[in-house]
Amino acid sequence: MNQLDLGDLSFIEGGHLLVKRAMGKINVGKEIVICGQDPDLEVHLEAWARIEGHQIKISTESNRFKLYRGDAELKRWQGAKQTGDPDPFKPESIAETASQTWGLAARGAVIEDGTPEFDFQLTKKSQVWADEAVRLYAQAVSAQWDPNTAIPWNTKFELQTEVEDAVVQLMTYLIENEAAALIVPSRFVAQLHPHFREVMQLLAIQAADEARHVEVFTRRALLKRDKLGISTVGGQASLKTLVDEPDFAIASFLLSVMGEGTFLTLLRFLEHHAPDPVTQTMTRLAANDEARHVAFGVAHLKESVKHDPHLLDRLNQSVHRRHDALQHIVGLNQKVIDALTLITAGGWSHQALRKGSQQVTKLIQDMDSGRRNQLLRLGFSKEQAATLSELHTKNFM
Ligand SMILES: [Fe+2]
Ligand SMILES: [Fe+2]
Repeated sequence: MNQLDLGDLSFIEGGHLLVKRAMGKINVGKEIVICGQDPDLEVHLEAWARIEGHQIKISTESNRFKLYRGDAELKRWQGAKQTGDPDPFKPESIAETASQTWGLAARGAVIEDGTPEFDFQLTKKSQVWADEAVRLYAQAVSAQWDPNTAIPWNTKFELQTEVEDAVVQLMTYLIENEAAALIVPSRFVAQLHPHFREVMQLLAIQAADEARHVEVFTRRALLKRDKLGISTVGGQASLKTLVDEPDFAIASFLLSVMGEGTFLTLLRFLEHHAPDPVTQTMTRLAANDEARHVAFGVAHLKESVKHDPHLLDRLNQSVHRRHDALQHIVGLNQKVIDALTLITAGGWSHQALRKGSQQVTKLIQDMDSGRRNQLLRLGFSKEQAATLSELHTKNFM
């Protein structure tokens, strides 16, 4: 017969773990003798056995007990399921539909039957998944930068008064756009089933990227001034359509593919034409982050399109709807265009202004061709891509 002597180790000092371990090694119905010197052993052992569903027989000898293994623990786990695998690239690792009863359990964990039902709205692999998320998340983690050390805040420079004003205005515009780009993925990360762990992680780090962008653009705006620029009705109206969009596919499309895609071109342009090293460094770092955001948007929508033949139609309509909603807003981005022109010109000479205007015209063309390329990648025809790009919000985001 099996015997376990706890010696002077009390039940609550860890003795229960030894008893549990010993019980795990015998079959249901079999017994083990437990003995020990702790005067409270009987009380503790009895209570524990009752909870665990084991039977206990107390011997006439003091502090010696026979414990028979019950089947409660086995029964408890009979209906348990293992769902998927922590390694996203193993076959069957990612379920086509994640069950609400898997809840918050780690993918690959054994889940006890009877877990409460959660209410995640995004439960289908075809809605959210792209293998690319795994690589993009790893890349995002290693590419995180510290605004304090990554940007040369202390480098001395002086811009013409109005050029500095234009930088402040541009930063003010960028900040509100970054706020929308932070809110949208944050909202969907709360709706996403945690079974799609890598997508959840990627959306979370995307929000953290945007938080940094908000920070650095704010700090640049206030570097030489104590006031920010203006925020227009048109800009906010455009961003509100993103913040209000309830559908994940449409929101990802309008934000990540169309909006952040356009912003990527804008940030690369600013990196190239930045009037000072602080603006140049931050726009380069933000552009690198945006490239990841766009890459995931395109990757998961490409997957969704494969599974949903009507999705391209819905995306198409979403651009038309948004265009109709915004078409009466006057001067949607004139302040931004003017600020960009002056920043690029760097001064007031005719020659500089002409050059600035030409560069901004070229920027608008580059934004358009960037959008059309992404639209082609999603499966739109050349004509559709040209139309949709043309209808994209003049706010850029
Ligand atoms: Fe951003
Ligand atoms: Fe972004």
